[in-house]
Amino acid sequence: MRSFVTFASAFLVGLISFTNCTKRTSSTATQTGGGMAAEQQLAGDDLTKARANYTNFCGGCHGRSLETFVNRKWQHGDSPEALFKGIKHGYPDQGMPSYDTTFTDQEIRHLVSYIREGIVAQKGKTETKSNAAVLKSEKLNFQLDTVLTGINVPWAMAFLPNGDMLVTERSGTLYRFTKAKQLQKIEGVPEVLAQGQGGLLDVKLHPDFSKNNIIFLSYSAVKRDGGQTLSTTAIMRAKLEGNSLTNQKQIFEAQPYARTRHHYGSRIEFGRDGYLYFSMGDRGGTKVNPQNLSVHAGKTHRIKEDGSIPADNPFVNRQDAMPSIYTFGNRNAQGMALNPTTGDIWLHEHGPKGGDEVNIVKKGANYGWADVTHGIDYNGSKISDLNQKDGITDPIKIWVPSIAPSGMAFVTGDRYSGWKGSLLVGSLSFKFLSRLELDGNKVVREERLLQDIGRVRDVRLSPDGYVYIAVENPGIIYRLVPVSN
Ligand code: HEC
Repeated sequence: MRSFVTFASAFLVGLISFTNCTKRTSSTATQTGGGMAAEQQLAGDDLTKARANYTNFCGGCHGRSLETFVNRKWQHGDSPEALFKGIKHGYPDQGMPSYDTTFTDQEIRHLVSYIREGIVAQKGKTETKSNAAVLKSEKLNFQLDTVLTGINVPWAMAFLPNGDMLVTERSGTLYRFTKAKQLQKIEGVPEVLAQGQGGLLDVKLHPDFSKNNIIFLSYSAVKRDGGQTLSTTAIMRAKLEGNSLTNQKQIFEAQPYARTRHHYGSRIEFGRDGYLYFSMGDRGGTKVNPQNLSVHAGKTHRIKEDGSIPADNPFVNRQDAMPSIYTFGNRNAQGMALNPTTGDIWLHEHGPKGGDEVNIVKKGANYGWADVTHGIDYNGSKISDLNQKDGITDPIKIWVPSIAPSGMAFVTGDRYSGWKGSLLVGSLSFKFLSRLELDGNKVVREERLLQDIGRVRDVRLSPDGYVYIAVENPGIIYRLVPVSN
């Protein structure tokens, strides 16, 4: 009797799962040929759940529509096994978290299918926004003018006095894009480690560029040590002569070098005091770097243009502190700009999962990472119970969920009447341009412009007062041209 029940229920269970299985896969059974290793096409609840898991846990870094996977040069292969392994164990040194404790193997397999099927569906769907259309925003109508296409990840733009533009491409090339729309390579850039989030990053002109032709580049410098390849954030000062850099000097090299390939920062801005401010990411050392003043990672730094240290930096008299540190407790800031009204430097930084921030850079301030955060870890686990604490400077704006901010510009001048005084911030993960309306140091309102334009990597105002945005994968630089309403 007993054995019969067992048998019957086992049979029933088998029957039920067999039925489910048939339902789920019936549409593709013929496509996949029913082979043992063939993947099942996701459908129904599995699809809904995989999509939700993807959006929630992966989309922030890999793009809501799988952008970073479509047309990818796979580092570890694109087989289901390779993807499975990557998701389960991560590539911590490259900034890819492990999801071993977050998902069951079955959930990971469904994510793998979701990605592989999504790539097929996405291919050929990438289109660029039509130029001619008049786009409406709350306070201004505008058109998009496509300035430059054909480079992959335009990380930063800088405008030369003669109307040419400098553009960094993350893989390691500095371009001059001339007024006549020619793309020319500039020789003499530093060697970079173009892996993960690293490469050739920011470019900034010296405030007296028209007299001295000096520019500054931030990048991930590389060091080979025994069998290991290590990297760090560095800053080079150089003279731009024609299409060559000369008199190159590395004026900053963050210590220590690390094995990781993410959170390099690094945006550069000049303060009204003539000093160079730049952001330095935590290099993934969440618990060990941002609150530790004896390392450079997880900070904002302030140096003179030759790399020497201003005497009034906040920690110059402390034996245990790096003297270039200006603020600490920062995670990874990829946007920085001088507020033209107040003269303060503003930055925004990536939170973990949730908790992106806009901060005003204040001498000696602690922004709390990773003791205090509005976000949680990528795998869903808690980082801190606190989102406020004594001695920690509060952000003036947070984004939950994260928009993955990159690039920052204040709108000045008279071209964009309705937007004047706003702060523009690019979103990598949600692919829009955020316009933050300000009242003094308060953010009073957010408008999301250009939804689905692509991963917005940089935002700048040109000397003639136009907003330029750089979008990646495929790389396009657009100019926003206001039209009368
Ligand atoms: C914090 C950002 C981040 C999150 C969140 C994240 N990844 Fe990644 N992932 C990376 C980075 C960085 C790499 C290294 C390769 C690169 O530079 O893109 C990577 C690599 C991978 C690879 C290997 C790619 C190859 O070329 O071989 C796969 C597969 C992958 N991720 C899947 C996922 C999935 C699925 C999720 C969600 C469960 C996820 N990732 C969440 C940052 C992230």
